[in-house]
Amino acid sequence: MDEHISEAIGRPDLICLDGSLACLRFETMKVVSALAAVRHLLDTGTVRRGDTLIDSSSGIYAYALALACHRYGMHCHIVGSTTVDHTLRTQLDVLGAHLEQMQPSTDLKLDQSRRVARVREILREHPDYHWMRQYHDDVHYLGYEAVAERIQEETGAGSLTLVGGVGSGASTGALAHYLRKRSVDVRLVGVQPFGSVTFGSDHVADPEIIIAGIGSSIPFGNVRHDLYDTVHWLAFDAALAGSVDLLRRHAVFAGLSSGAAYLAARWERGEEPERTALFITADTGHRYVDTVFVRHAEAARVEDLAPRQVSGTDELALPWSRLNWNGSPGPGAAVLR
Ligand SMILES: Cc1ncc(COP(=O)(O)O)c(C=O)c1O
Repeated sequence: MDEHISEAIGRPDLICLDGSLACLRFETMKVVSALAAVRHLLDTGTVRRGDTLIDSSSGIYAYALALACHRYGMHCHIVGSTTVDHTLRTQLDVLGAHLEQMQPSTDLKLDQSRRVARVREILREHPDYHWMRQYHDDVHYLGYEAVAERIQEETGAGSLTLVGGVGSGASTGALAHYLRKRSVDVRLVGVQPFGSVTFGSDHVADPEIIIAGIGSSIPFGNVRHDLYDTVHWLAFDAALAGSVDLLRRHAVFAGLSSGAAYLAARWERGEEPERTALFITADTGHRYVDTVFVRHAEAARVEDLAPRQVSGTDELALPWSRLNWNGSPGPGAAVLR
């Protein structure tokens, strides 16, 4: 029996959708990572019960850290963006986490750097607070080791193509790292929105809304570019078509990054049908009802969509591009100095 709800929420489902296409379905992805990170910090004496953990978050990490703090008797302080919605805000409040929401900004870079500046300001006032640094501290890789073990057991350890959205890079990076450490043959496919510096698409704007949780306008230390074999960039409309098809065809209700990963995984499976294509769904579809699912009638047929194969980021084009990344280093603007 689980000792706390966070253990149940953190544990993903492995679902075979169709032959060699499978889904690693999280209700809220970062719970497993936040739990292990906090446990590690306690075990190593970096923090003690009753201390305050702080970080900036645009969404699911806020909830994950709040649950981990509830589990281990810590205080939680989140500097959130406006993407933290009414439901999450209310949950955080009742859970006892302190949320500071920043003013809305249409500029993602400004939004991200303002949140970091605010965290620094709070740390000057409270030097005893511990900054979790989810985007940079590889303590966030640890929780995925147990997930990698389960994937190996349940997929029979054949060759895998692992597909997932890249935000901090912890989930895809850690799963590939721990699976390869166990000698599983893994091809790692990262999924990005246009306009993100992480794999060099910052020069291509997506006129629709960005895909929550993936991509970045600033460099992240937790992205290990050398782990990725292939990168797909998808525009909002293509991700929408993926999310709607995933619900319609397979009854999996998941968010936009999941819809984008599903499209990329379908494509990769078509390229190499002998490998199992396992894609990550990071959250449920509830947050996306008004922006995505009510528009289901206008969703393109996924069979009509195909990526443009490019040989460099200078050729990237909406609505969907694919590049053989081949473990290349990150572009200059995506590397921490
Ligand atoms: C909905 C969603 N999908 C995917 C990701 C990417 O996960 P990671 O930060 O592990 O790269 C995030 C991260 O915030 C997210 O919120």
